[in-house]
Amino acid sequence: MIVFGLSESKKTARRIAKSLKVKFGKFESAKFPDGEMHLRFGDSVKGKKVVLVKSLNPEPNDGLMELVFAARTAKKLKAKKVYAVIPYLAYMRQDKMFKSGECVSAPEMAKLLNNSVDGLVTVDPHLHRIKKLSEIFRIPTKRVSADPSIAAYIKKKYNKDKTLIVGPDIESSQWAKRIADSIEFESTIFLKERFHSRKVKVRVEKELDWKGKEVIIVDDIVSTGHTMIEAVKEIKKRKAKAVDCVCVHAVMAENAYAKLKKAGARKVLSCDSIKHKSNAIELSKVISEAVKDWK
Ligand code: R5P
Repeated sequence: MIVFGLSESKKTARRIAKSLKVKFGKFESAKFPDGEMHLRFGDSVKGKKVVLVKSLNPEPNDGLMELVFAARTAKKLKAKKVYAVIPYLAYMRQDKMFKSGECVSAPEMAKLLNNSVDGLVTVDPHLHRIKKLSEIFRIPTKRVSADPSIAAYIKKKYNKDKTLIVGPDIESSQWAKRIADSIEFESTIFLKERFHSRKVKVRVEKELDWKGKEVIIVDDIVSTGHTMIEAVKEIKKRKAKAVDCVCVHAVMAENAYAKLKKAGARKVLSCDSIKHKSNAIELSKVISEAVKDWK
């Protein structure tokens, strides 16, 4: 087995290779003056099981193209198998036709990968209307959960009796509630209404004893940040001591990080599925465990 890191994902790839005790290969990605990509394997892949690590953010479109081109090149160069490790799998949220004529992107993205790689490992893909990855992927897939890593982090850094965990919407209970239950922290889930991508409203359904507590909002993705921002505002109204935000995937579009801080979040923390200054929780070990079976 040999592991390659595509652009923006080299650090994670190097850690995965180290943890699997396999070679970290050289891979060059550059751009021609006209914006087209130039990719090159700097180590032989012939007869090897090739692992390509590439998170689909920032630039999900370029990222997907880079991954597909690299995978097909590896096969042309006679790799035995080509596996993709995609810590953040973009396009999973466009899982139905919301307005007539829209492209349902999730299965289209899956088709590209189905036709390019022999297996996929990803971290907490956004599964909502699509319940299982096998509904859109025909290649073997493995879904790594960041929950235990986040739970261990919270347990180490916060005091159970003075901390509350919040999920900002129903979908987030698969992260927030599960994490809170696993370390026996008190938790509640808010209700969210989304009017469009930049306008959301959250409602506190079950009140807790907020006063003087440290509150951690846990969600899978911070994209525009509006979900977290609205949740921060609701909690601040209730005189909590501090509000921190923790997410798996720090998409952080449109300056979301700064907006969250401005809204009053004390800390904004994330897992390292996407490279970002908020990264505080490392996932390479749990990802390596999933890749190990293919070794
Ligand atoms: C949606 O259901 C997800 O779990 C996140 O809550 C959502 O993607 C966050 O998006 P934004 O940061 O744009 O509000």
